Amino acid sequence: MKQRILVTGGTGFIGSHTVVELQNSGYEVIIVDNLSNSKADAVDHIEQITGIRPAFEQVDCCDLEGMDAVFAKYPGIQGIIHFAASKAVGESVQKPLLYYRNNLVSLINILELMPKHGVKGIIFSSSCTVYGQPDVLPVTEEAPIKKAESPYGNTKQINEEIVRDTVASGAPISAVLLRYFNPIGAHPTALIGELPNGVPQNLIPFLTQTAIGIREKLSVFGDDYDTPDGSCIRDYIYVVDLAKAHVIAMQRILDGKQKEKVEVFNVGTGRGLSVLELIHAFEESTGVKLNYQITGRRAGDIVKVWADPTLANNELGWKAETPIEDTLRSAWKWQVHLRETGVQ
Ligand code: WQD
Repeated sequence: MKQRILVTGGTGFIGSHTVVELQNSGYEVIIVDNLSNSKADAVDHIEQITGIRPAFEQVDCCDLEGMDAVFAKYPGIQGIIHFAASKAVGESVQKPLLYYRNNLVSLINILELMPKHGVKGIIFSSSCTVYGQPDVLPVTEEAPIKKAESPYGNTKQINEEIVRDTVASGAPISAVLLRYFNPIGAHPTALIGELPNGVPQNLIPFLTQTAIGIREKLSVFGDDYDTPDGSCIRDYIYVVDLAKAHVIAMQRILDGKQKEKVEVFNVGTGRGLSVLELIHAFEESTGVKLNYQITGRRAGDIVKVWADPTLANNELGWKAETPIEDTLRSAWKWQVHLRETGVQ
């Protein structure tokens, strides 16, 4: 009997890649997504990749009754991976209440339903945003949590506390908090990838849309920071490597191998790259010239952050293996696929 895993936000960027890896590892996957920032045809593309069609329920995680009905419809769900959340830093500043309601209520509903339906464990999609601007780099899980720079980042911090407090209250569940750095790239088949609604906020989709001609020019938000070339530094991790970390973490939970009931892992490559280095790496690895200009800084940007992934490497036996050149080529292949299939 295959172990059943519920993936909220499973038609989204990281969610869809994680569903593929879960299926490749023999799990039965049920996707719950409200399609507010993704498309239902991601289910078709996942099936094209793995040959297995995941169950899909269009439900909003903030709908407690709707979520309860999903658990009742699919008895025996062993674990949950909770991706569903609003995730645009800038938008969260404009619409804080939307972010607090959506990101907090969705998690609260899931935590409330888990004991009722015998679900053992949850993996929560957290973010390096919780560290703010670390004092020491690379940043470890022991680094202090700093005051969030945005309501989005604050919801990640609050959600981590909600998970900890729920487990500490004696709820019969355990958790792994995965703190992502900057997930980028697309599946090697180019059947799934990052497909933001409207004008992309994140660097890579804007970069590849510029490279293919959808956008006229990429703005580099500042080159006067305290970094070697003046542009901001991030830890860009291949989305498939990130997805694989979720499968390993889920197996750890289901095998009862956790050392604590709540564990935290940085999921990054351990290597920092500046915006300008990334642009040059893209041009070199794809042969595509990029039209970009240096503009003013973006409010709220962290200057430099990259992971110390030692804990995940040692405890999970997981490591981000993919070279940045391959990752950037996968992002470009996805953008070309979107053009060839008339999506963008
Ligand atoms: C990366 C770098 C920008 C766009 C956020 C969240 C994080 C995660 C990923 C959800 C920065 C620069 C960007 C552009 C640019 N969220 N940039 N021109 O802000 O590091 O992380 O998104 O999963 O939790 O905090 O990602 O891709 O927006 O920016 O110069 O057009 O690229 O200034 O230095 P960020 P990003």
